[in-house]
Amino acid sequence: MKLFDVYPLNNITITKASGSYVWDDNQVKYLDMYGGHAVISIGHTHPHWVKSIEEQLHEIAFYSNSVIIPIQQQLADTLGRVSGKDTYQLFLCNSGAEANENALKLASFHNGKKKIVAFSKSFHGRTSLAVAATDNKNIVAPVNETDNIIFLPFNDENALQQCFEQYGNEITAIIIEGIQGVGGINVANNSFLQLIRNLCDTYNAVYIADSVQCGYCRSGKFFAHDYAGVNADIYSMAKGMGNGFPIGGILIAPHLQAKHGMLGTTFGGNHLACAAALAVLEVIETEKLMHNANELGAYLMEQLIAIEGLQNIRGRGLMIGFDLSDELKDLKKQLLFGQNIFTGEAKPNVIRLLPSLAITKMQIDEFLEGLKNAIKVIQG
Ligand SMILES: Cc1ncc(COP(=O)(O)O)c(C=O)c1O
Repeated sequence: MKLFDVYPLNNITITKASGSYVWDDNQVKYLDMYGGHAVISIGHTHPHWVKSIEEQLHEIAFYSNSVIIPIQQQLADTLGRVSGKDTYQLFLCNSGAEANENALKLASFHNGKKKIVAFSKSFHGRTSLAVAATDNKNIVAPVNETDNIIFLPFNDENALQQCFEQYGNEITAIIIEGIQGVGGINVANNSFLQLIRNLCDTYNAVYIADSVQCGYCRSGKFFAHDYAGVNADIYSMAKGMGNGFPIGGILIAPHLQAKHGMLGTTFGGNHLACAAALAVLEVIETEKLMHNANELGAYLMEQLIAIEGLQNIRGRGLMIGFDLSDELKDLKKQLLFGQNIFTGEAKPNVIRLLPSLAITKMQIDEFLEGLKNAIKVIQG
């Protein structure tokens, strides 16, 4: 049977991983500045994470959500403490799209309204409402098209204000990434997020903070939205939550009340996924990875600014992007095949850096050296 041709592939087979490194089937070692698409939070195959999953696997991997699963409560308690959102409620699912899908659905159940505000260059996932709220027509199937999404320019306060003056009573939710990932590392202004909070309060709409990529300490705070000093009503999470074990979830503010039948999932919150997610939070706490993301992110940013040819360096913590001049448009390829360094990209000509939050200064220096070499090679 053939695999469905979903992705353009690099001709590399990764067979081993540890910390911030991966190895291919020819034992070639690569520095992972991409974190497998922002998924690797505590480092590949972290020993505490491996041990927790292994031990859980010997006890029980799965039972349905029709019984009490105590490790879900353990995860909720730890997540509440580490994120600082301990008054919120936790719903567990399996991916980022599913988290956003449930967030949007819950908002509409809550206030009975239908319209959703989303922003230019947003990415919220590939299913139903999540893809409809994603600003990329190429990935929206005709069946996903809906008149219920209003797209506005990112960070445009006037447009947002005007939109609410016109449609405020019909808007169920605003969904926004604290730092746009797929869109090219665009940071939401604090004043923009504060305005969202105000408008949601005034018009009884739900502020959904898509933290699937920018959450879980990647920005140097638990949620990138926290920089604005206001709380969202729902935070969606996935990627870094399981360090590669599939798990997603939403944090739900106390005033949004649960009713049986609103949400549900077969696999969400299974024992094994919870063991992985709990181990991630334990490592984030014991190894002070939020602090590391802050410190080393600032160091990396400062060093990048000093490199000629990189433009518009931006981001927060260990979620950093920069634009490339046309001359450097093949930099990502040169980094991968010339310097053995994985990075991310966004169209057109943006490099995205999303390394493990446990990356060391030495590894960042190794990256900077490789980056300078790659630029030299391209410039001849
Ligand atoms: C901000 C954001 N939201 C949602 C998603 C969708 O997550 P998933 O691929 O786990 O469905 C992504 C994935 O890249 C994302 O970056």
